[in-house]
Amino acid sequence: MKALIWDDLHKTKLVKKPEPKIIDARDAIVKVTMSSICTSDLHIINGAVPNAIKGVTLGHEFVGEIVEIGSDIKDLSAGDRVSANCETFCGECYFCKHGYINNCQNGGWKLGCSIDGCQAEYVRVQFADTGLTKIPDSLSYSDALFVGDILSSGYFGAELCEVKPEDTVAVIGCGPVGICAMQSARAMGAKPIIGIDIDDYRLKLAINKGYADIIINPDTQNINDEILKHTSNRGADCVIEAAGGKNTFQTAWQIARANATVAIVAMYEENQTLPLPEMYGKNLIFKTGGVDAIHCTKLLQMIEKKEISTDVLISKYFDFDNIEKAYDYFKTKCDNCLKVAVKYD
Ligand SMILES: NC(=O)c1ccc[n+]([C@@H]2O[C@H](COP(=O)([O-])OP(=O)(O)OC[C@H]3O[C@@H](n4cnc5c(N)ncnc54)[C@H](O)[C@@H]3O)[C@@H](O)[C@H]2O)c1
Ligand SMILES: [Zn+2]
Ligand SMILES: [Zn+2]
Repeated sequence: MKALIWDDLHKTKLVKKPEPKIIDARDAIVKVTMSSICTSDLHIINGAVPNAIKGVTLGHEFVGEIVEIGSDIKDLSAGDRVSANCETFCGECYFCKHGYINNCQNGGWKLGCSIDGCQAEYVRVQFADTGLTKIPDSLSYSDALFVGDILSSGYFGAELCEVKPEDTVAVIGCGPVGICAMQSARAMGAKPIIGIDIDDYRLKLAINKGYADIIINPDTQNINDEILKHTSNRGADCVIEAAGGKNTFQTAWQIARANATVAIVAMYEENQTLPLPEMYGKNLIFKTGGVDAIHCTKLLQMIEKKEISTDVLISKYFDFDNIEKAYDYFKTKCDNCLKVAVKYD
């Protein structure tokens, strides 16, 4: 079968690999029907992920059809249309039992990193009973493509903030994760939602689609003044940091009202400073984390009910044979690209 591998620093290669086989009783083999490219794939190619293995098939964001299951898999069968979780998790260890699947003692982010991922015609999914979710008949593969990664991450941000009806939620970053965080916060009753970005195209998208009620560009507006203006001089009730840019961590705590929760979903490439003397008395709650993507079934139901939609994130479709062009398109944000979808025949 064809597979896209991480070949060397800054290099990918489309190669032939043997089709994967069931190794463990909890495995499933999935025929990939659609996949996407994540910024984490770019981090691997750039050599920034220590666990990544050269020659690994890339990719962890996908949907497909099960072709074979291991003997311990009870609730899934060949022919099922499924969306995949970006994390591999056993469901049995201390962390899994508490919902902290990101810290699974037998899993973690493996797919497309330390074991062969989904940018291939077939993929072996470990712990398939926890990692695959059936897609409802009414939803297409495109509808379900982002459930196990980007959508889960946005939802996670809103969940960390424990968003309540009428909360003012500020989301820093109107990229794929930020857009999913806004929609999730909206579903929890947030109003107003304030979208913050330095990219005017993305800000316009957020407001035109109704994900945000107010937009702020910190490059051209005074962010702290704007936030105070829209929050009766208090600051935002919840802040979701989904940008990971220079100063966005500082912005996150500065625009929060006293006693607010600040959820850090973004991944930083550099250390950040927590200026405790400066924020003394503000009594903030900080929550950080890699996504615990445990709500895939619920998120699919929300998509069915049209409470959330991720179609808007797909800027362009590519055939699998052109996946390297898809990488270039995504990497360079060509045509204001948000995400790409790669189709398989
Ligand atoms: N916690 C997790 O498990 C998890 C999962 C997926 C992604 N992530 C992280 O979430 C973040 C967002 O992911 P994405 O796919 O939406 O990325 P993205 O790069 O497409 O979006 C980030 C957005 O932040 C904006 N931005 C950058 N600097 C800014 C600044 N100074 N002020 C305001 N806005 C600024 C950018 O213009 C961009 O629109 C990334 O850091 C990513 O690594 C985390
Ligand atoms: Zn990812
Ligand atoms: Zn576990």
